[in-house]
Amino acid sequence: MGTLTSLALVTLAVPFVLTAQTAGPASPIGAYNVVPELPGMGRPVDTAAVAARRRALLKRIGSGSVLIPAGHERNIEQDYVQDNDFRQDNTFYYFTELETQDAVLLMTARGPDSFETILFLPPRTPSQERWTGLRLGPDSVAVRLSGITKVLPLDSLEARVRAALQPVYSPRPRQSDAWANNLTPIVDSMRAVKDADEIMRLRRAVDISVAGHVAAMRAARPGMYEYELEAALEDGFRRNGADRLGYPSIVGSGPNTTTLHYDVNRRKTENGDLVVIDAAAEWGQYTADVTRTFPINGRFTPRQKAIYDLVLGAQQAAFDALRPGITMRELDGVARKYMRDHSGNLCGERTCDDREFFNHGLGHPIGMDVHDVGISRPLEPGMVVTLEPGIYIQGEKLGVRIEDDVLVTAKGGEWLSAGAPRTTDAIERVMSGR
Ligand code: GLY
Ligand code: MN
Ligand code: MN
Repeated sequence: MGTLTSLALVTLAVPFVLTAQTAGPASPIGAYNVVPELPGMGRPVDTAAVAARRRALLKRIGSGSVLIPAGHERNIEQDYVQDNDFRQDNTFYYFTELETQDAVLLMTARGPDSFETILFLPPRTPSQERWTGLRLGPDSVAVRLSGITKVLPLDSLEARVRAALQPVYSPRPRQSDAWANNLTPIVDSMRAVKDADEIMRLRRAVDISVAGHVAAMRAARPGMYEYELEAALEDGFRRNGADRLGYPSIVGSGPNTTTLHYDVNRRKTENGDLVVIDAAAEWGQYTADVTRTFPINGRFTPRQKAIYDLVLGAQQAAFDALRPGITMRELDGVARKYMRDHSGNLCGERTCDDREFFNHGLGHPIGMDVHDVGISRPLEPGMVVTLEPGIYIQGEKLGVRIEDDVLVTAKGGEWLSAGAPRTTDAIERVMSGR
């Protein structure tokens, strides 16, 4: 126990504090940079939130067991060349908020109020820790950090699983796992409505993303390469504490604005181009999803502004109609109707809502996945969705998408990403440095 005790002392005595940025523009979200962290072990766990999620799951199961493995770090030599990033498995994270690898969670429900949770952890390996830092091991530190009172060594898992109360639920059971029921639909239905801790994470991911978008707008100059804008954007993310990108950054200029998921980002911009940036940060396992469209030279042409304002109006119409009980499909209809009614001849003989021009859905839930679970469910307070209408006119090399993240409330919606300028006036103001 000697090493374990000293580990406990280290983590208690030397809380790791992220310091404020040392360079660049003042962060609008500087307060977020003061987050006590535990070296090598991830952020503090909201032990009450994860315990409530575990209880809710076990109540749903009623009687039986749940087996959830953690993620495994990819190996830089053996799996993917140049890639050893670790991101926790979403299901394991949802019920533990632990970033530890190769762990297993075993939960048992024996009736409505008889629940047990066991966390199995691999042994710590001091020689390995000299390369990659401290890890959680099966000891009192893990109990304290996870809030799970029963933590056992991983080598005792097999016997426990053999004796587990049937039926056993597990995420993504393979065909060879004939013993396991699929846990995923149950967890997906829980994940659709976010709890307070998840909303806090999403707000932070959105705020960081907004800071990156503003940084990219401020850096924009005709003649820049798309990757230079990408660098300013992602510098803004990382500078404000992003863990990673929520998805590969889409930075498309000129003709590339009409390619929905363009992420090559190599073109040299030209004066008069629009730029579509669809990019977001992940923080604490949750990702935002934000798109802004702006003129590389800081001034919209009348034609660009007319298309932009139609997209903006459609987004606003969807937001105004958003309330608990409505579906994303219905909101898609609201946005298209607005575009249809206000197109005039902006898109030629057809109206701009035509699938030729608005060729994707209005939006989707976000969460631990950028396209998160629950898209076909009627909205409920606590769901977080994107509203992202767009018009893409290939013949004119003209694409506009505006994407914001919205929290569903009892009364309607709350814009989460409103900090990124959204009207043409606000964008021009930010780009001119005013
Ligand atoms: N960033 C992907 C999407 O907007 O759905
Ligand atoms: Mn989206
Ligand atoms: Mn997006």
